[in-house]
Amino acid sequence: MRIFQHVQDIGDLHVALAEAQEVKRDRYQWQHLGKNKTALLIFFNNSLRTRLSTQKAAMNLGMNVIVLDVNQGAWKLETERGVVMDGDKSEHLLEAIPVMASYCDIIGVRSFARFESREDDYEEKILQQFIQYSGRPVFFMESATVHPLQAFADLITIKEDWKGKTRPKVVMTWAPHPKSLPQAVPNSFAEWMLAADVDFVVTHPKGYELDPQFVKGARVEYDQMKAFEGADFVYAKNWSCPGVTHPEDYGKVLHDYHTMMDWCVSARQMAVTNNAGFLHCLPVRRNMIVTDDVIESPRSLVIPEAANREISAQVVLKRMLEAL
Ligand code: CP
Repeated sequence: MRIFQHVQDIGDLHVALAEAQEVKRDRYQWQHLGKNKTALLIFFNNSLRTRLSTQKAAMNLGMNVIVLDVNQGAWKLETERGVVMDGDKSEHLLEAIPVMASYCDIIGVRSFARFESREDDYEEKILQQFIQYSGRPVFFMESATVHPLQAFADLITIKEDWKGKTRPKVVMTWAPHPKSLPQAVPNSFAEWMLAADVDFVVTHPKGYELDPQFVKGARVEYDQMKAFEGADFVYAKNWSCPGVTHPEDYGKVLHDYHTMMDWCVSARQMAVTNNAGFLHCLPVRRNMIVTDDVIESPRSLVIPEAANREISAQVVLKRMLEAL
């Protein structure tokens, strides 16, 4: 594997899920693969889970790990070509990428949507430059449009909880948030659920329709309570307007969140499910996205879900090491 961005990059999902369980059984059995190999993890944005779980996964494989927080201690990077660099940015990404690549074998990058241009975000302008100019395998640690390490961990968690029974109903619900959040997590979750053997439903208020490249084929239900009926898993997440029908609204919060609090996942909605497991990628704002009682309930899967981030990252790094 040279690039990890979309669900297709992991190949057959049954094989990938079986490999995840093999990693879980003994995560240290491939230490020879990472000997004298270095992973460079580059963060343009904050992280708790991605940083720790990916670092741990690389160490499980015997790799050396370098973590760089671009905005804390490194030179501020210009990302546009043609700019007269007379401002606060001292280095251009086009030099920085090959320099960073010269110190490592595999690169992971986190670079969120900037909401300055829908086109730039959806073309993955930053990550594409890493792919083009690094000459190294590149895996996405949440980009402008996707968070595949999260979606893979989500699928592992659903599979483990569901224990091989027939097609579960998985509902992804929008929930309120005071700030503008990217669409990377819901995009990837939709992409991965549509590729998996599940009955997938998306529910959100009108105006938050996700980009068809990720949700094509998914059932969209605007009535949240109706969507929750009989659900086996509920995945909550906020996202800002994807700007599919109104590009001028891209990245906006369309309603005052105080008027949308009915969408916060509570015992009221969970009562109509099939004792659904509750998932969220974390970090989560309690009593905005989900109530205390739901996230603390025995059916809350958020902690095993976060723990599975180590496993998804290890499968991806292992595949990349095997292909070096
Ligand atoms: N879920 C997730 O990616 O968490 P972090 O932002 O803390 O890495």
